[in-house]
Amino acid sequence: MANFTEERVLDVHHWTDTLFSFRTTRDPGFRFRNGEFTMMGLAGAEKPLLRAYSVASANYEENLEFFSIKVPDGPLTSRLQHLKIGDSVMVGRKATGTLVIDNLKDGRNLYLIGTGTGLAPFLSVIKDPATYERFEKIVLLHGCRRVAELAYGELITERLPQDELIGEMVSSQLIYFPTVTRDPFRNRGRITDLITSGKLFSEIALPTLEPAHDRVMICGSPALLADTKQLLVDGGFVEGNHGEPGDFVVEKAFAER
Ligand code: A2P
Repeated sequence: MANFTEERVLDVHHWTDTLFSFRTTRDPGFRFRNGEFTMMGLAGAEKPLLRAYSVASANYEENLEFFSIKVPDGPLTSRLQHLKIGDSVMVGRKATGTLVIDNLKDGRNLYLIGTGTGLAPFLSVIKDPATYERFEKIVLLHGCRRVAELAYGELITERLPQDELIGEMVSSQLIYFPTVTRDPFRNRGRITDLITSGKLFSEIALPTLEPAHDRVMICGSPALLADTKQLLVDGGFVEGNHGEPGDFVVEKAFAER
């Protein structure tokens, strides 16, 4: 059996000159846990051109969604950004990844820290009823340079609270905190600085992070991961992994190399 299925593009959305997302059909046999990634890309003359992509849709949804940067000279995204409805993409049959709630110990509040396209796995995690059953409050932090890069804000604040399955849980338990560093906006600054200064916690009216109670997932650039991880380790948080649940888990956003 081939390791990939061929899926059809159903919808493409360009957020900015550098960010776009698209929806595809989903093979009924493709199973994943919310927060995982798979290989995705385009068929090539000799072999397919594939990269790791977080699945931005939830595992109970009929279609798949992917959120991508556009790298002008990137082998894959320079082509992928021109996808049109009806085009084909290749999607791996297997999904994997560390950003799944099973890799976290039980706790009070769950913090999801994503920068740029590092938001993608958390779009899946915040649609999962199990997330709301395990944690009291879910704090979704999305950090970007520019306001225009705060993709999916309308989904998170307008559509999910109305959702038949998870609307009530989203309304009472999800706190969305977008922040930008290079534009005027209601929330400004790097996520790490907002945590260290305590500004985040006064804004969202929750206690400061504590390893005894809080759990964290991080997805972004290598620099963001390193700095956020250091901050947590210094605060006494223990990293979790497959088979060994911890206080936090980490995955790099899959920028094109
Ligand atoms: P900044 O504008 O101060 O670099 P990028 O597009 O480079 O991945 O950045 C996305 C967002 O993450 C930006 O707001 C950026 O802030 C922030 N960021 C980048 N590196 C770090 C880091 N090491 N710690 C915290 N935030 C970071």
